[in-house]
Amino acid sequence: MKLLVVGSGGREHAIAWRLAQSPRIQKVFVAPGNGGTAREAGLENVAISAIDKLAEFARAENIYLTVVGPEAPLAGGIVDLFRSRGLRILGPTQACARLESSKQFAKEFMIRHGIPTAEFSSFDTASAAHAYIDAHGTPIVVKADGLAAGKGVVVATSADEAHRAVERILVERSLGAAGSRVVIEGFLDGEEASFIVLADGEHVLPLATSQDHKRLKDGDKGPNTGGMGAYSPAPVVTPELHARVVREIIQPVLAGMTEEGQRYTGFLYAGLMIDGSGNPRVLEFNCRLGDPETQPILLRLKSDLFELIEHAMDGKLDRVKAEWDRRAALGVVLAAAGYPDAPKKGDVVTGLPATGEDFRVFHSGTALKDGFVVTSGGRVLCVTALGDSIKVAQRRAYEVVEGIRFAGMQYRRDIGHRAVAARRS
Ligand code: AMP
Ligand code: GLY
Repeated sequence: MKLLVVGSGGREHAIAWRLAQSPRIQKVFVAPGNGGTAREAGLENVAISAIDKLAEFARAENIYLTVVGPEAPLAGGIVDLFRSRGLRILGPTQACARLESSKQFAKEFMIRHGIPTAEFSSFDTASAAHAYIDAHGTPIVVKADGLAAGKGVVVATSADEAHRAVERILVERSLGAAGSRVVIEGFLDGEEASFIVLADGEHVLPLATSQDHKRLKDGDKGPNTGGMGAYSPAPVVTPELHARVVREIIQPVLAGMTEEGQRYTGFLYAGLMIDGSGNPRVLEFNCRLGDPETQPILLRLKSDLFELIEHAMDGKLDRVKAEWDRRAALGVVLAAAGYPDAPKKGDVVTGLPATGEDFRVFHSGTALKDGFVVTSGGRVLCVTALGDSIKVAQRRAYEVVEGIRFAGMQYRRDIGHRAVAARRS
């Protein structure tokens, strides 16, 4: 059987690599893929991105199933289009993907269905947004309503910062149409965790928990990014909390969607803030796997990913369990100079190691040029390692990072710091 994975990031490299290991799969096409998927056994890149062209390709190549990585094609209706042409595809419909593509929709959906989240208001004029900020004080969180690749959120500690965020997003339109509306919400304190499940419309299969690091700089400073590193599991998610999240957040999303005439299938990602008393609240929903969370999560997956997805397609996720490597995994993102604002491209990457039993280097923004791997995007690589604890996985990942070079490479030195500190105390 042949499969198609849509996307070009480290997440898609990890998904396609795992799918290709299934004994039932002959080949996994990745569209458009990157320099890593180009070199991986069992994978083949295809230079297609437009949704209708992907559908034509899937038909022509007799693709058994398509798996969609990123949010943009989901929000653009790729699942609806494939289904209308009788093509098998895993992912939520455009209507379900609004959980990610409109923060206002997500917040209103959570209120309708009693899902815990921060209080909020949304605005399409700057004057009303400014007045709300003045009335509520700081800290306060300003978010662009639409898709902004993780860069549309400002956690403002001063009123000045909040007002400037409104001006940038709503008036200067720094994020384009994604910023034609802002959601302003209350600041939530606590520890974050990413809770990702595979859903079949009715049942869910929770994946291993994880935590990413959204800020660019060590110590969680600097601007928000798509994610600078991640590890799995997230110790903050105890078994009790795990059960609560499924019961109070994940199941209500599926039930709420069904009630509103939609069936949620595919991956669902809840970004959570866990407060000091252990109560979870939703920061955001994503309608897909996380990047870079997927890299450590899938490095730990021992079950056949294709089998799990087959169960989701057939509405039988209640009949399957996922098996995980007992070791922890940790991934460090190596980003290009200038990321996240204006990443530099075209630099040669050297020192890429051969894969070891306990690590893999997943590619994101890379391309092959004259036989060399060169940078071609903001997040370039995610060096992901396994270890008996998060600390051991962390040490191993940074050992591997040491050997890799490209001009202007930037990365955080402290991925996993919270989990490592929590173990010590
Ligand atoms: P989002 O894309 O909505 O998850 O926001 C990106 C990041 O901003 C989150 O991972 C949090 O670190 C932070 N954030 C978002 N919303 C809030 C909030 N209400 N309170 C505190 N931090 C937040
Ligand atoms: N790492 C956060 C995300 O994928 O949205």
